[in-house]
Amino acid sequence: MKLALFVSGGGSNARVIIDRFQAHPEEGVEVVLLVSNKATAPALTMAAERNIPTLVIKRAEFRDTTNLLGHLENFGVDFIALAGFLWLVPAYLVNAFPDRILNIHPALLPNYGGKGMYGANVHRAVKANGELESGITIHYVNERYDEGNTVYQAATRLDPDDTPEQIAERVLRLEHGNYWRVIRGLVGG
Ligand code: GRF
Repeated sequence: MKLALFVSGGGSNARVIIDRFQAHPEEGVEVVLLVSNKATAPALTMAAERNIPTLVIKRAEFRDTTNLLGHLENFGVDFIALAGFLWLVPAYLVNAFPDRILNIHPALLPNYGGKGMYGANVHRAVKANGELESGITIHYVNERYDEGNTVYQAATRLDPDDTPEQIAERVLRLEHGNYWRVIRGLVGG
């Protein structure tokens, strides 16, 4: 199973996934491509250091053409995991990979999802509402933000004194521990 990872930033989830499956080829998931919408994303260097081919896409090309499909085909991509990828996925891509695009969201959807709810915004909102629990949602991707069917959720307790940064750390730990596991469960050998 050939996996492409889509990122916009730091790529710590992408790193964990790449390292896991490079260390365990018997699990049958090969990361063959990392796609970034930002030419300066640190994830690009991280992937290159691990001998993973990378591709930077521009917004107009992503949204208004289907060129990306040709690239994905060239790499034999079967499955896509968004890992901190901030652009809405266009219909042509969803249709080309039905139930084969996953996203991870750093909250317990349907709460704290939708447009603008990403990164620190999510954890600030969780904090502002005094939540004592947050978590992760791994879901299939459709053409609307954060609305595809949920595959997996995990929760973590929050301390009332947690700052948004501390909430982010707790949630990121859950992401790192679970995203590769869910991918393996869905498509691994
Ligand atoms: C993660 O919290 C992920 O859930 C969200 O963006 C963040 C990306 O972190 N969609 P990283 O780039 O994987 O470090």
